[in-house]
Amino acid sequence: MKVEWTEQTPRKIQRYPNADYPHDNPDLEDVLTSADVDHVAEIFQTPLTGSFNWDYKIQDDRIKKLYDLGKQLNWDPEMDIDWDRPWPVEQQSPEMMNLHDYEPYLAMDEDTRAEFWLHMNAWSLSQFLHGEQGALLVASQLCSCAPTFNAKLYAASQTFDEARHVEVFNKYLQTRIGMMYPINTHLKSIIDKILTDPRWDMKFIGMQIVIEGLALSAFATARETTPDPVLKDVVYLVTRDEARHVTFGVNYLEEFVKTLSDEEREERAQFAYEACAISRERLVATDVFRHFGWDVEEARKKVLDGFVMSTFRNLLFQRVIPNLNRIGLLTDKVRPKFETLGILDYENLATDGDIDWSEMERPLDTQEAQAYEQSMLAEFAKVHEAEESKTSSAA
Ligand SMILES: [Fe+2]
Ligand SMILES: [Fe+2]
Repeated sequence: MKVEWTEQTPRKIQRYPNADYPHDNPDLEDVLTSADVDHVAEIFQTPLTGSFNWDYKIQDDRIKKLYDLGKQLNWDPEMDIDWDRPWPVEQQSPEMMNLHDYEPYLAMDEDTRAEFWLHMNAWSLSQFLHGEQGALLVASQLCSCAPTFNAKLYAASQTFDEARHVEVFNKYLQTRIGMMYPINTHLKSIIDKILTDPRWDMKFIGMQIVIEGLALSAFATARETTPDPVLKDVVYLVTRDEARHVTFGVNYLEEFVKTLSDEEREERAQFAYEACAISRERLVATDVFRHFGWDVEEARKKVLDGFVMSTFRNLLFQRVIPNLNRIGLLTDKVRPKFETLGILDYENLATDGDIDWSEMERPLDTQEAQAYEQSMLAEFAKVHEAEESKTSSAA
């Protein structure tokens, strides 16, 4: 086993030959071939404050029930997904990204455009994968540092969930897409902060509330928009687990935050705000723009100016903001900051604190999954329509 220890996150794109996606691999200077890769391990240090819990009496509470559900609803990426379905017709959506009138995009020939959309897809799925690895590491820390017995057991079941999520996105990228992008630097900075903070509740707030809350919304969009039935199934199975993780976070933190002093609570509120603000920055595929030789800042601005991206990056917070409100972290000091970001309006939407057990206990059914779940796109279409009618009535 050859491990290369590094203090730096690798910045190269990796390619996997023999993936389903039909494309030729051009000679890219930043291709990291499998011959180069053995194990690349990036070091982080964490002053984790852990605890034993000697009170083995199991309280029959919501946390215990969520743990039981985690056991019952196990699934296997190999068994529960049919990986042999054909690759669908590839989608190109320059309008969605506001690139339809962008000069460097228009200058690309057809093959390069196809390659570009493959990279965009690989980039966003790679962020899912890296985020899942972050969740795996954090969940394993929570086993040590969660203070109560039920929560330790629960964190262990979540750790296994996250292992499956890493497995399934990794498999998808390697066998279906054939390409993997490095982690976005903003996403990496949030995960670093969560992993290296010694306080268990900061980890909960950062991971269970902000990152997983955002992931729930992002997964819903991915499921709605992908033409690939394999990815729809992958995302459905992952989402079902994530909904449980977020529910656990909200229920567990709600009680705890009440016990904090005002100053401690403010510090947590500020931390949550910062994680949200950085998360908005991580949504643009700047590494792809760089790869294709674009002016990164100009392209970033162009994409964010578009209606879809500017709306989407706010809609992503529909789960996070009400949950922060519910656990008491939308303090008077941070509310104006959220308002500046344009996402405070979501504060009164439904939270993940009230558990709909029948929803949580839904059996594994990927067929039904295709038709299931409230669609962010429907919401999005409504906003878009309202926007359009405003523009047309103004004109
Ligand atoms: Fe996950
Ligand atoms: Fe999770």
